Order: sequence, then structure tokens, then C-alpha cells
Amino acid sequence: MQLRSFKFSLRLILPLAIVLGLFAFAIVPLVDNLTMRWFMRELDARSNMLANAMQDPLTEYVPQKSAKKINQLFDRAILDERLYALAFCDADNQLAYKTVTYPDSLGCRSVSPKLGVRQAVIHTPQGALHITESPLNTEAEHLGKLVLVHDMSFIERRNADTRKYVITLFALLAVIISLITVVVAHLSWRGWITSVKSLLRGGLLHREQSPAASNHSATVPPPTPPEVQPLEGDLRALLNEINLERRTRDDSSHIWTPEKLRTLLHEELAGDEVLVVSNREPYLHMHTRNGVEVRRPASGLVTAVEPVMRACSGTWIAHGSGSADRDAVDRNDRVPVPPANPSYTLRRVWLTKEEEEGYYYGFANEGLWPLCHIAHVRPVFRSGDWDQYVQVNQRFADAVIKEARTDDPVVLAQDYHFALLPRMVREVLPKATIITFWHIPWPNPESFGICPWREEILEGLLGSTTLGFHTEFHCKNFLETVDRYLEARIEHEVSTISYGGKLTKVEDYPISIAWPEAEDGPGVAESRTSIRQELGLPANQLLGIGVDRLDYTKGIIERFQAIEKMLEQHPEMVGRFSMVQIAAPSRSSLDEYQNFEARVRSLVQRINRRFGNSNYEPILLKVEHHDSDQVNRYYRAADVCLVTSLHDGMNLVAKEFIAARDDEHGVLILSQFTGAARELHEALIVNPYHIEQGAEAIYRALTMPEIEQRERMRSMRSLVKDFNIYRWAGRMLLDASRLRQRERIMTKIHSHSRKSLRRVV
Ligand code: F6P
Repeated sequence: MQLRSFKFSLRLILPLAIVLGLFAFAIVPLVDNLTMRWFMRELDARSNMLANAMQDPLTEYVPQKSAKKINQLFDRAILDERLYALAFCDADNQLAYKTVTYPDSLGCRSVSPKLGVRQAVIHTPQGALHITESPLNTEAEHLGKLVLVHDMSFIERRNADTRKYVITLFALLAVIISLITVVVAHLSWRGWITSVKSLLRGGLLHREQSPAASNHSATVPPPTPPEVQPLEGDLRALLNEINLERRTRDDSSHIWTPEKLRTLLHEELAGDEVLVVSNREPYLHMHTRNGVEVRRPASGLVTAVEPVMRACSGTWIAHGSGSADRDAVDRNDRVPVPPANPSYTLRRVWLTKEEEEGYYYGFANEGLWPLCHIAHVRPVFRSGDWDQYVQVNQRFADAVIKEARTDDPVVLAQDYHFALLPRMVREVLPKATIITFWHIPWPNPESFGICPWREEILEGLLGSTTLGFHTEFHCKNFLETVDRYLEARIEHEVSTISYGGKLTKVEDYPISIAWPEAEDGPGVAESRTSIRQELGLPANQLLGIGVDRLDYTKGIIERFQAIEKMLEQHPEMVGRFSMVQIAAPSRSSLDEYQNFEARVRSLVQRINRRFGNSNYEPILLKVEHHDSDQVNRYYRAADVCLVTSLHDGMNLVAKEFIAARDDEHGVLILSQFTGAARELHEALIVNPYHIEQGAEAIYRALTMPEIEQRERMRSMRSLVKDFNIYRWAGRMLLDASRLRQRERIMTKIHSHSRKSLRRVV
């Protein structure tokens, strides 16, 4: 604020100071000239006076040839500091008498051919001298001439002083006028702001009341000042919108539902279109032996965003990666989804093999994924991959721009695949509201700094209106990273970054899931029985469940090591406990993922050999795709769910497990390195790297009294139910709508204040 008013004052003072400065420099030579003429006139008069005063004594001493008296007369006269020298030239124009200061070079040559008193300025090695020649005559004869020499250096000294005074005077004048201008401008500006504020606080609110209400009101609304009147209508409309937003926002007593989200979009964003852009598509059309099947991918992002899109409608732009995707779309590459009950449009973008290799497998998953997760796998950065990443981001940005029906759509950009897209869209649609959500962790500045294109990534993301992370900690890391690598203005208190004239709000929005409907799928009892039967396990078998993509960040190896340790330390659990690990194949063309799968399989084999027999295997590994209904049955059948990620943005498996347990039983073991651990405090929180601690937690979960299970589960269920995915989306959209409104108000106020200021200045 102080900086802004300083800049404002500078804008007023600077031109004024420049004008006054130029004026001062133009006037100095004039003043010089004037003072010189004035001093010359003074010197002439002075010389004449002196010459006249010396006439009488000289007409007496010269005929007497009284050198002593003449010299005394001369010496006394030159005591005057400005009279430099005196001389007397006789009637033959020979130098007869002179003071010691009289320059020899002057001699007795005439300074002017005219008769009478002659004056001139001559320049000698001693400096500029003012010469006055005064003839000395008696009534009878011409005795000679008196020569008076004045030193003119004092004139130059005085001129320099005068110049100094003139410049100082103008500088002072500039300061005083500037100060007066600034004070007047500030008073007017404050007056204007006060009028707007009073209008916002009192006037508009009073005027908004019904006539009956205002009759009872003790205070009469102040009249709107004339300078604010043109804004009154606009401000009132915007104030209404903000009030409505506040009401919706403060309405925390209600659970967020799809309907509430729809209402919010309708009221707050005036039915604006919503465009989601992500790499992974929500539905894949696949060729199978039974014809074309539609699949839902194993992705936290899809789990979270899909219900939001069902509620908001709009268009979801994603990479068409299913083998039958091209057969399902229309000529604009669009397909209505969900297939059974379409409520929004899926717009597919096609990528070449080369693009997919470089952008998805290469830069996104061999570079950014390990970079952000810090799970002890080295990130790989290749220039070729980067080029593809830039190109594909541009392709998706173009798709967003093409799909947008207005110039200010709401764009929800998802994840690390599209760090450059927000800026690319912003360049073409400057009025768009771009909400970017980063689904994975954001590392500390040092770790992020190893990315060769770190500045480009940060600049790309700062094209967003709002940038969301799961946790405050990731927001903080991001702000610090920007602080380290870009010349941006960061306001930590309000978590905003100003870069290239664009403001981005960085906020934590913990992602969640859609709370299931009561009648969703088979119940707990039924699932417990049927799953155990399918697995060939006794009815009372203790069951653990893990559901993950087969990814090295998920802590699957550490989880199995903890199970091994638990069976070692509690042999009574051997044969009584089984762990089902659902591992959806993921990014399997990458070496790192192939190696990881091989390590997981070999560890499972070793543990199963160690503790199992022909009827019993402690770990049942299922490396295949499972749909959400199948996964839900496992959640309901299990006694304990293990989430042991080495690092995870949120981890929605933890929340899905809780949502599935309407019996309020079952225990969640949760890695302290997940975003979910910041919310689900009643889980058994573990450090997945600490194998003994993990073993202990598994044993504790399997032996936890029912009452404790219920207490923990009840508390976590109530949190996940309220803090659901509609709240996640709703908060982001509300914040975005607030920023849109604020921007509109600021634009109006700025344009109006500029007009007012112009009038003042
Ligand atoms: O939790 C979300 C997430 O981890 C994304 O970051 C990622 O895109 C997705 O799940 C799964 O990965 P992929 O899209 O590569 O299958």
C-alpha cells in the first residue's frame, strides 16, 4: 500500500520537477546576462566617481611632479578591494605613475578612440579587467590621463552565487508545488475512496433495504456524492453478487452436494461454461473379445473430478488413449458421457506415439513425477521429451481455446501434465478464469531446482487465476520455489503471487471423493462373506486390503516387508491373516515400473514361500484392473486397509475405504507422507520406511477392539462426508468467482479513479 502511494506521488512529482528543472536551466543564462549588465553599469559609475574625486589632488600634484604624494594617493585608493590598479600617463602618453599592481602589458594605450571618459573591458592573464581612462586637464593645458583598473572577478563570483540562488529557489519551488499537488491529490483521492467506501458500507446497503425497513431505521442514508454517482449502479450489482457468494460460503451447516455445486455455478458464475483439461480421460473405450467395453481408469484425478463434471456439465478435454476411442467419437472428436446417462461431453485429443513417449512417459512420468515425489528414484530430463511436452501442452491449450464458446470460460487444468497450458490459454483468452490443480506433491525449492526448465514450468503455472495443492505445505513449497527462481512479488499473508502483471492465488484445496449413496453396492456382511468365498478363505479370516497403481511411490514393498515382520513377530497370525493387494498396472512401458513390478512379485513369492503352504498364501497379489464396484466390495470385506505411500499428494484410497465402511468398522493404516494424513488423524499413522513400526500397526489394527474401531471410523467418516469432492470443487469455484468479481470491481474503480484524478491534476 505504502509502495503504491509512493509510486503514485512519484508519478505526480516527477513531471513537475522536470518542467521546473528545465525552466530553471533556461532562465539561468538570462539572469547571468542581466546581472552582468547591472554590475557593469555600477562599475562605470563607480569609476567615474573615483576619477572625479582624484581630479583635484592630481591637477595639484602632477604639475609639482610630486611622485610621493601621487603614489600615496594611488595606494590609498586601491585599498578598495575592487579597484585593482591605477596609473597616470602624461601628456606625451608615457607611463608616469602607477601602482605596483598595474599590469605592464596595459601601458598607456588607449582603450577607445573616442574623446572624454573611455571605458572598456579587456582580458589579460590576470583575468577580465575593467579599464577607465579619464583625461586630466587644467584650464591651461592637458596634463595627461588617469587610468583606473577594476578587477571584474568579483562580478563572476557574484554571478555564480546568483546562479546558485536561482537554481536553489526553483528546486525549493518545485518541492513546495509538488508537495501541495500531492497533498491536494491525496485529499481528493481519499475523499473519493471514502465516498466509495461509505457508499459500499452504508449507502448501498441502506438503499437495498425495503422501504418499510428503512422507515424503522434510525439512520438516514447519506446522499451519494456526485463524483461517485456514475458508479452507484454497478457497485450495487456487484455488492449483491458478493453478498450472495458470502451467504453461500458461510452456509457451512449444509453438506456439499452435486445440487449445491450446480446452484453455485448457476448463481456465482452466471452459468459460465466449465472446461476440464487432463491427460487421463474419465472413460476409455476398449476393444475386447466381447466387443467394445467402457472402462474407468485407476486414477485419483478421475475419481475426484468425474463427479464434479457430472454436476457441472461442460466439456472434459483429455487424451484419447483407449483402443476403441476413435470409433466412439463424433466428427468433432466428442462423445457424451457417462455412457449410461450422459451429462457432459468428453472431447478427445489424439497424440502420436512419439508425442506420448516424450510428453507423457518421458517428461511427465520420468521427469516431473519422481522430481515431485522424492521417492528415491532419479528424475530423467531429456530435451527431446521437453520439446514434446511443450508441443502437447500447446495442442491441449488450442483444444481448450477451440472448445470455449465465450472469451471468459472457467478452465479447470489438471495436474503435472499441463504445467505450461495455463499461460498458453491466458495468452489467447486473457479473461478466462483458469483454476489449475496440482494433484501430486510440490517439492522444496532445492529439489525442484534440478529441473532444467524450472522457470518455464513456474511461468506456465502462473498463467492460472488460482493454483491449488492438496496441503498448505505444498503451497508453501511452491511460493518458496517461485521466490527462489523468478522475479515475482509474493504476498505470503494472502498467498498470492504477482508475476508479469498477473495475479495468481495459491491455495490448499484438499481433494476428496463423492460420498456414496446409501444403496451403493452390496453391504458389508455380504461383501465379507462373498469375498472370502471367492478367495477360498475361511469365513473368519482376517483380511487386509491395499489398492494402488503399481507405482514405486506407493510404498508397496515396504508394506509387504511390514507384513512379513508382523508374521515373524506374531506367528499366531500366520494362517489367520491374508493381505489382498490390488495393483493396477501403470506406465508399464517404463523400465522403472517394470523393475518395480518384478521386485514386488519376487518379494511376494519369497514371503508366501516363507509363511505359506498349499492352502495358505499370506499375500494375494492381483496385478489387474478392477472397477470401482469390485474395489468397494474389497473395502467392505477387509479388516484393515493399508496406505503406505512413500509420498502422495492426497491418496483417495484412504477416503474411499472410509466412505465404504458404513458399518463403522475396519482400521485404516495411513502413511504420514500422504496429504490424507493431515486430515484423517484417527487413522493409525505410520512412517512406511520404519518396517517394525508398520508391523506393529498392522498387528494393532488386527487386534483393535470394536469400540475403538467404531470411534475412529465414525470421526473420520463424518469428516470425509462433509469435506467431500463437491466442497473441493465448490471452494475453488467460489474463490475463482470471488477473484472474478474483485477484478471487475477493481477495473471499474481504477477506470473511474483515473478519470477523477485527471480532473484533480
Ligand atoms: O492422484 C492422481 C494421480 O496420481 C495423477 O497425478 C495421475 O495422473 C493419476 O493419478 C494416475 O496416473 P496416470 O494418469 O499416469 O495413469
